[in-house]
Amino acid sequence: RDLAEIPTELLAWYDRHARILPWRVPPGQGRADPYRVWLSEVMLQQTTVAAVKSYFERFTSLWPTVHDLAAAEDAQVMAEWAGLGYYARARNLIACARKVSELGAFPDTREGLAALPGIGPYTSAAIAAIAFDQPETVVDGNVERVTARLFAVETPLPAAKPELVALATGLTPAGRPGDFAQAMMDLGATICTPRSPACGICPVISHCSARAKGIAAELPRKMPK
Ligand code: ADE
Repeated sequence: RDLAEIPTELLAWYDRHARILPWRVPPGQGRADPYRVWLSEVMLQQTTVAAVKSYFERFTSLWPTVHDLAAAEDAQVMAEWAGLGYYARARNLIACARKVSELGAFPDTREGLAALPGIGPYTSAAIAAIAFDQPETVVDGNVERVTARLFAVETPLPAAKPELVALATGLTPAGRPGDFAQAMMDLGATICTPRSPACGICPVISHCSARAKGIAAELPRKMPK
């Protein structure tokens, strides 16, 4: 079947089933604030969605803009971060807020974003796609799993990574790259889960090669550590 149907069908599903998350703007209601996208993506780097929610609400009520966060005392930011772990993230968060405040606004390209403290390839792609509608592909663990299954990639991770990035890039639509990224994340988090995926309710089951081969739950394979 036609590969171009995958983003179309996934976006139609996302329009109806997108998770309601505090840093999200519902599909079709405009773009998200880059500051809120950045803050949420940094918090989500090594922490679950469930754990991040209350921290995100607290940070954005204390510091509604990047300029407010840039002006905060280091000690207060560190204190509010307590519990999220990986404290280098909080140090980089402060440094990044000050840099962006000095620049006046967040850069709107992946390259510009990647030059900021604490922003790696994943986070720069996520902000560029979600906040600025740039045609970037966001590849996290969920996206790797969904892609490995759609294309029945049997190469184990991490060796499969470049292939998965190329395949996910090929799926990304020019029109709604940010919604597409978040649709892949939501599909991975709610339906295309690591064990016992809920293939019966998957919006792209008809395109899934792993499902057709009966190996969806086995993918992605992993190299023994
Ligand atoms: N995990 C990391 N970023 C996310 C996002 N924007 N939506 C849902 N889950 C995520």
